[in-house]
Order: sequence, then C-alpha cells, then structure tokens
Amino acid sequence: MTPNSASQKTGLRVAILGATGAVGAEFLKLFESREFPVAELRLLASERSAGKSLEFRGEEIPVLAVGPDSFDGIDVAFFSAGATRSREYAPDALRAGAYVIDNSSAFRMDENVPLIVPEINLHAVKPTDRLISVPNCSAIILLIAVAPLRKLAEVERIIVSTYQSASGGGAGMMRRLVDETRAYLEDRDVAQKASHPPYAFNLFSHNTEINAEGQNEEEAKVIAESRKILEAPELRMNVTCIRVPVLRAHSQSITVEFAAEAPSEAAIRSALAEAPGVRVVDDRTVNDFPTPLMASGQDEVLVGRIRKDPSHPSAIAMFVAGDQLRKGAALNAIQIAECVIPGAVVSREL
Ligand code: A2P
Repeated sequence: MTPNSASQKTGLRVAILGATGAVGAEFLKLFESREFPVAELRLLASERSAGKSLEFRGEEIPVLAVGPDSFDGIDVAFFSAGATRSREYAPDALRAGAYVIDNSSAFRMDENVPLIVPEINLHAVKPTDRLISVPNCSAIILLIAVAPLRKLAEVERIIVSTYQSASGGGAGMMRRLVDETRAYLEDRDVAQKASHPPYAFNLFSHNTEINAEGQNEEEAKVIAESRKILEAPELRMNVTCIRVPVLRAHSQSITVEFAAEAPSEAAIRSALAEAPGVRVVDDRTVNDFPTPLMASGQDEVLVGRIRKDPSHPSAIAMFVAGDQLRKGAALNAIQIAECVIPGAVVSREL
C-alpha cells in the first residue's frame, strides 16, 4: 500500500506503541515542546493499560490495547514496546500505509532497514523506505561524540566503557532502583534480596545473555550497530556495558584511536563544538565535566574530559553523558520523522 497522504495543513495522524512506558512519556513531552505536527494521537500499549489515559496538550487521551487494526488511518507509528511487539505489529502498520519508526532491536541489523542517527547517516534512507530503525541508545550516544572526529582523521579503533542508567531497562527498572534504594536506606533487606544483583548502591555488568566471544547482548549490539551506521564493517571496537544506579542518562568513557597520529586537542575540541547534537562541557579550571544529571532532559550529548591518551600517540580520550530517553530513544525517533516524513519536515537544524 502507498503511504497515507497526510495533509500538510492539519498535521499527521500519529500512533505510539508503548505509550505508557518511559520512552512513551518522552514522546508526549517532545511532541509538545517541538511542536511536532500531531493532528490525531493514538496511544497504544498492552491490555493492562487499556482504560487508562494520558495527558497531551491539556487533553486526556485514552490508552488502547494494541491489535492488528490499531494502525488503520495512521501516518506515522512510533514503536517502543520491545522487539517482540515490533515484529508482531510492524507488518500491520506498514500494511496500513504508515511509516514505522522503531525503537526496538527487531529490524536494526536487517540490511533492508535503515538504522539512522540523523546527524550522521540520513543519506542511508531511501525515498521508498517506510520502516526505519532507531539504534541502541548506547550506540547513538557513542556515535554522536565519535562521528565528528572522523572528519579530522580516519578512526581505526574505539574502546568504550558505559555507565548506563536504569531508564534503559524501562519504567520498571527505574522503579526498581528507587524502591531498592529506599529499602536500603530504611534498612529493610527484603527488597534487596528480591533482585539479583542488588541495584541500590551497586553497579553490575549489563544483565543480558553472554555470547561465545564473551560479549553481552548490549555490547554486541553497540559493535554491530556502530559498524552499520558508520558504514565501517571492519571498525575495531571493544565495548564494556555496565549498569549504574543512575535514573536516566547514560555516560561513557571513550578512547578513540586514529589510523595516524591523533589530531590536536584544539582540532578535536573545535570539531566537537561545531558538531550537531553535541555540547562541549569541559572546564578543567573548575572540574566542570558531563554528568548524567546535567544531561537529563537535554537534547545534546555532553562531551568533556577531552584529552590525549598518554599511553598511545594515535589515541584520544573523552567522557560523555547523554539522555537515554531523549537522544538515545524518543528524540532520535522524532528527528528521523522530522527529516523523512512529508508533513513532519521542519526547517530546524539538527
Ligand atoms: P504496558 O504499560 O501496558 O505494559 P517500558 O520500556 O518503560 O517498560 O515500557 C514498555 C511499554 O511497552 C509500555 O507502554 C508497555 O505497556 C508496552 N508493552 C509491553 N508489553 C506489551 C504488549 N504485550 N503489548 C503491547 N504493549 C506492550
């Protein structure tokens, strides 16, 4: 079916699958603050949420249980309810003529589906594409900081350790962090025992399955997706993903190794200062560097601690923080729509 022809004047008929989740809430906020042209909004979630309502532009909008017909008459559907739901309902939404912007991992590595960070690889979207994937949140935050450096010199290798917030695990994990912290402070150990590993005042390796090479799923995703986005299948990467007791915004310690001697620190700073989606926060005199709290609710990825790697003449190091729910998910999805979908296109710089 051909895409629904949304009227430029009245705006788009928009659906959010996963509207009641942590990313869903961010979509609603961003539609308002960015004046995304929403003519009609359909909020979709599981049976559990049917009957609830959510506020949008001062109006209460009912949440509906998703079904195969949920996307009829929809121009663009933002999916953020996990890969299983994306696999189940993306075909229905596409058949209904909607664009699907998918936050899950379901189609990211499908060679027919573009995997897009608008600041980096918008060129990978073909005019006929209706299904577009949003990369893994850690991959987006990493590449927003690293991609601008590729204009200075060839990047040969990336080493990154993440400090990932609870929001990456959804609203449930954010609640778990708050509940366990409260239990810990109140000296109740019941909740502590309920979760393994304990989350309050602790950190742990991203608790996804480990593959034969010893990488957990998150690390493998960051590697594969970064190579696809940068169109650099041979890029050498070593990734360690760690969950920390922070509510939202992921941080990362990044080492970038160039093919030849590293560009000067000044050149790196100015490339980052000019890069869309980046804010340099790097004042050594007062130790002002990116923190997850500073990044929370912000659109830009904050980059600081920019310095040469004293252990290698071709390498530099930096520390970044980016809001996982915004640039790592909802914001990146909306920016894709704004750049790609007729009727959503805005003349705003990325
Ligand atoms: P619900 O609130 O009804 O469970 P988060 O990542 O913050 O946990 O959010 C996940 C989102 O995905 C929620 O909106 C959740 O809806 C939705 N979701 C989870 N399972 C299903 C399902 N089986 N069908 C539709 N939506 C689902």
